[in-house]
Amino acid sequence: MKKHKHAPLKAATRAIHAGEPPRHGVDAPVSAEIVRSSTFTFSSSEEMKLWAEGKSKAYIYTRYANPTLAIAERKIASLEGAEAAIVTSSGMAAISHSLLSVLQNGDELISTAQLYGGTYRLMRDVLPRMGITVRHAETSLEGIESLVTPRSKCLYIETPTNPTLRLVDLRKAIAFAKKHQLVSIIDGTFATPFLQRPLALGFDIVVHSVTKALSGHSDLIGGVASGSHKFIDPVRQMVIYLGGCMDPEVAFLLIRGMKTLGVRVERQCENAMRVAKFLEKHPKVERVHYPGLKSHRDHALARKQMSGFGSMLAFDLKGGLPAARRFCDRVELFLLAVSLGGTESLVSLPIYSSHYRMSEAELQRAGVKLGTVRVSIGLEDAADLIQDLQQALN
Ligand SMILES: Cc1ncc(COP(=O)(O)O)c(C=O)c1O
Repeated sequence: MKKHKHAPLKAATRAIHAGEPPRHGVDAPVSAEIVRSSTFTFSSSEEMKLWAEGKSKAYIYTRYANPTLAIAERKIASLEGAEAAIVTSSGMAAISHSLLSVLQNGDELISTAQLYGGTYRLMRDVLPRMGITVRHAETSLEGIESLVTPRSKCLYIETPTNPTLRLVDLRKAIAFAKKHQLVSIIDGTFATPFLQRPLALGFDIVVHSVTKALSGHSDLIGGVASGSHKFIDPVRQMVIYLGGCMDPEVAFLLIRGMKTLGVRVERQCENAMRVAKFLEKHPKVERVHYPGLKSHRDHALARKQMSGFGSMLAFDLKGGLPAARRFCDRVELFLLAVSLGGTESLVSLPIYSSHYRMSEAELQRAGVKLGTVRVSIGLEDAADLIQDLQQALN
């Protein structure tokens, strides 16, 4: 992108133009080039020596860095208002590499009760094996002060949460982290950088599963972590050690998907609001979880810290699990599948997907009911989506 002399560009424009190499003059390709090479040449042994001494930023090997990955990283950094970003092989790689860049044996991590199931399982099953203690606060952050010890090192939150669409108060979370000098990490996957900008409020690292809305077509797995060099350079070091780098072909799809992020998010928010309002009035629905509804407990907070309410919602059916299963078996246009943020609308049952094999107590803490149905709203016409929901519920 050329240096721009006018007012700062809007997010939808930056999703298209930011991070791209110069594309003016003769013969410049408009679309990003896929640099499908694992390794890069040096012109002399002297240059190689400079690289080894950390005095050269030359590309050496794709696990370290790659020009196609760099376009995706600059684009996302621009949307987040970040100095740096690193793309990874999955959202879980972005999360685990970020946590491991901060935590070591003996440290304590404070997180919230409501998290994507994979993140929760990482904290339950893996981090303790490395001598890292994890304590979960209420999503409202009530009582969180009582979890702090001299070993507390990091605060990790997710907002809106998967699958119950609760919100964590970003300002309260960051004040808490700063007071106790904790490194703050947030998973902003459900919001995208379009609807929520945690770095501007003071968070240190924001991670996303780019598998979801950022790429937007359910055709790749990837992740990203963004922040200042102080925090992202150590995450890159973790990727170099542990190997969770993105593939250049995937980075191309991500770059391509991001060009339509602005219109997709706008349309998906509109569709989700219409679907949520329909479901809220349906006699078989006990409760709809969508931050855009006035009835949602975090609606006021959503208005304060998000610029839109997102494409995800969940609802509980009065008939519990049997009714939820019947509903999922009857949808025709909606697809019964996990994941989210793509063009196709999806339904899934968290107890059989993101929150599978969790104890009753764990499900209760995560706010997941047996009959909770999670919905990812896509780009279809909202009237068609509502018609499908209507027939499946009847
Ligand atoms: C909120 C959230 N964070 C992280 C992840 C993990 O991302 P990935 O599947 O790309 O590893 C998911 C996946 O569903 C998610 O919903």
